[in-house]
Amino acid sequence: MNFVEAVGLTKTYTPKGAEPVHALDGLDLSVPRGTITAILGPNGAGKTTAVKVLTTLIIPDSGTATIGGIDVVKRPDDIRPIIGVSGQYAAVDENLTGFENLDMVGRLYHLGAKASRARAKELIELFDLTEAMNRPVKGFSGGMRRRIDLAGALVTQPEVLFLDEPTTGLDPRSRLGMWDIIRSLVSQGTTVLLTTQYLEEADQLADDISVIDGGRVIARGTADELKASVGGQRVELNLVTPDDTAATVEVLRRYGNAEPAVSNDARTVTVSVARGPEALQLVLRDLEQRNVALYDAGMRRPTLDDVFLRLTGRTTEETDSEESKEKAR
Ligand SMILES: Nc1ncnc2c1ncn2[C@@H]1O[C@H](COP(=O)(O)OP(=O)(O)OP(=O)(O)O)[C@@H](O)[C@H]1O
Ligand SMILES: [Mg+2]
Repeated sequence: MNFVEAVGLTKTYTPKGAEPVHALDGLDLSVPRGTITAILGPNGAGKTTAVKVLTTLIIPDSGTATIGGIDVVKRPDDIRPIIGVSGQYAAVDENLTGFENLDMVGRLYHLGAKASRARAKELIELFDLTEAMNRPVKGFSGGMRRRIDLAGALVTQPEVLFLDEPTTGLDPRSRLGMWDIIRSLVSQGTTVLLTTQYLEEADQLADDISVIDGGRVIARGTADELKASVGGQRVELNLVTPDDTAATVEVLRRYGNAEPAVSNDARTVTVSVARGPEALQLVLRDLEQRNVALYDAGMRRPTLDDVFLRLTGRTTEETDSEESKEKAR
C-alpha cells in the first residue's frame, strides 16, 4: 500500500451569490514511502485544497484519504504527529525572531525546552539563516520567510512532508537551494508531496507527477513518460515581428503532425514533427521564400508545458492570465 493514498476526493465550495466551485472533483493520489510526488497544475486547479484535505485542515465532501494506513478524516489526531506542512503562504509569527518561531513550534509539539532549542538551532543552520536567527521575521525577505516556514514544518522530523508551492516567489539561487534541501530530506527517508506550477520543478524533483486540472488528475507518470506521451520533437521558431505569425503557422501546418501552437505574444510558434531535422530544413526553406525574418529557429524535445497544452488545450500561461482576470473582476 502506498504511504499516502487518496481515492475519489471531492470538495465543492458554494460561495454566496456565486456558482459552486468544484475544487476537488474525484481526485486520486498515491505516494510511495520515501519518494517525491509532484502535483502539477495551474492556478485554481485544486492543489492547495488537496493539501488541506491531506493535512486535516479541511474535510472532503466525499472520498477517502489515508497516510500510513491511518484515515485522515476519521483519525486526524493520529495524522498530525506524523506530518509536516509548509503552506502556500508562510505561517510565521512576525514579531518573533527566526529562532523563536522554530522554538515555539517545538514547544507546541512538547519537545521540551532543551530539545526544542537544540532542534531550532540545527534547522537555522540547515537553512542558512544563522545571521537572521535573532531578527524578527517581519524584517525577513520573501525567500527567508519561505525557508523559516519550511524549517517550522521539519521541527518534529515528520515522516511525510506536504509542501504547497515551496519555491514560488524565490529567486533562481534560492530555488536551487530549496531543491537541494528537499532532495536531502528524501534521501534521509522523508516522503514528500509537493505542489507546483513549475513544470521544471516537477521535472527536477519528482519521481512521479500527477498533472491536475479542475480538481482531478488528467495525467500521471514520470517526467519522461509524460513527455513521451506528447511524442516527437518540436520545431520552434521565434519571429522578429508578429506580423509574420499567420504565414508561419501556415507553413508549420504543412510539416507538423499537430496544430501549431502560438505563444501569447504571437512571436513564438511551435509544432510537433515526426522527423526533426528534415522538417526544420523544409520549414526554413519555405519561410525564406516568404521573407519571414527569424530571431531564432531550432528543434527541441517536448517539455512538460507541451504536455499541459496537449492535455488541456491551454498553456499554463493562458490559465494564469484567465485566473488573474478572474481575480481582477
Ligand atoms: N474557501 C474557499 N471558498 C470558495 N472557493 C474556494 C475556497 N478555496 C478554494 N476555492 C476555489 O477552489 C478552486 C481550487 O482552489 P485551490 O486553492 O485549491 O487552487 P490551487 O491549485 O491551489 O491554485 P493556486 O495555484 O492559485 O494556489 C479555485 O477555483 C478556488 O477559487
Ligand atoms: Mg494553491
